Amino acid sequence: MDKLIALCKRRGFIFPGSEIYGGFANSYTYGPYGVELRNNIKKLWWDKFVHQRDDIVGMDGPIIIHPRVWVASGHAEGFNDALVECKNCHKRFRADHLVEAATGQDLEGQIEEMKRLLDAGIDCPSCQKRDWTDVKRFNMMFTTKLNTTEEEAESIAYLRPETAGAIFIEFKNILDSSRVKLPFGIAQIGKAFRNEIVAGNFIFRLREFEQMEIEYFIRPDANWEDLFEQWLQLQEEFAHELGAKPDDLRRFEHPKEKLAFYSRKTVDIEYRFPFGGFKELFGLAHRGDYDLQNHSRASGVPLEYYDSENNERFMPHILEPTFGLDRAILLCLLAAHSEEGTDEDAGGRTVMRFPKRLAPVKIAIFPLLKNKPVLVARAREIFDLLKRHHVCEFDDNGNVGKRYRRQDEIGTPYCVTIDFQSLDDQTVTVRDRDSMSQQRVAIDGLLEFFNSQLL
Ligand code: GAP
Repeated sequence: MDKLIALCKRRGFIFPGSEIYGGFANSYTYGPYGVELRNNIKKLWWDKFVHQRDDIVGMDGPIIIHPRVWVASGHAEGFNDALVECKNCHKRFRADHLVEAATGQDLEGQIEEMKRLLDAGIDCPSCQKRDWTDVKRFNMMFTTKLNTTEEEAESIAYLRPETAGAIFIEFKNILDSSRVKLPFGIAQIGKAFRNEIVAGNFIFRLREFEQMEIEYFIRPDANWEDLFEQWLQLQEEFAHELGAKPDDLRRFEHPKEKLAFYSRKTVDIEYRFPFGGFKELFGLAHRGDYDLQNHSRASGVPLEYYDSENNERFMPHILEPTFGLDRAILLCLLAAHSEEGTDEDAGGRTVMRFPKRLAPVKIAIFPLLKNKPVLVARAREIFDLLKRHHVCEFDDNGNVGKRYRRQDEIGTPYCVTIDFQSLDDQTVTVRDRDSMSQQRVAIDGLLEFFNSQLL
């Protein structure tokens, strides 16, 4: 992780947030290559789950929606973590995490029992003293104040803790305005905010993160088990497309007794992260009709589906595949990161072996020598041609070996070098990131060559 984090900063993938002000815990900025990678992953997801399917439509709702949405969903009351503070060093912890790490017990919701176990034998991991405050419930939603003259309590709104809420409340609008028929899904990508007590592990747990979520509506009498399995397979397939190896993925089914009362089944897709082993990457939940029922009741607007063929009206059930974008990015970076040899002079290199379609830059174009105007001019012409079709970078800095190493570190699949031979025979050298092999390709066939390699 340390090497990856250093590379991300050095090469402009991800910077620690607000660094010139001394940093701001758990916030990160996606730099020039990070934002390209991020956009490529979103595009891959949108293409796979929206454009390539005729049963899913997209939407983009607001971050701040009516506060009553979060009352109806249960978040205002129940979206809590158990917080405890060390009175000696004032560090805050998730009480349930401390208890689980020390005893293996999952005491979800049992605040008093957590406090008893902490006092009985769990020391502060930071200062090793044992002097705990009471365990308190801590709502993870960020609040904000609206500029209104209403009563104080009325002016509180929330930053959405998940994107799903914005989807449920548009169910009727989407039914009324599109030609969707059950089963169908609504997809959305967007920011979510959670006041995590303990954020950390780079971009794994953030206070501000992005989700890619689908609410998939089905008939209550549908064969949901088969659909559930299909969705799990699609989520695994997407993780593979990001670069995950099959052995680094596993499914974790939530035990029946821990499921929310409305859920028939919830499964996490876990990835083997290099900190503490398998951890949640994506999730899939059967949510029954909990959300549509609650929003119908709270809003007074019936969120039903009318089946014109059978002339029946009912409330659909929901399968919810959810994907954390920042965790997808972390997986992609981790899976791509590879160090080959230790000695740079003997050809040792760090290379980000991104799947080609996710690489931030697809082709780097180099004039062999920076001070030979004929080479630079020809290289510029080729750059101008290719950049209209693929994300390209022009680089004339340092020797070609250094340029290759830099492009390897940002995961560029191809480098094109324009040399003196190019002026004679109109060919260039194309170097492959993974095999490091080089071949001469005719300039007038270059675009076609890349179009076929970068599908
Ligand atoms: N609508 C369902 C939902 O929000 P969740 O398991 O709480 O379910 C979904 O979150 C996904 O969002 C997770 O699988 C994870 O990938 C991502 N996620 C959740 N909390 C996160 C955080 N604090 N930082 C980064 N990603 C997070």
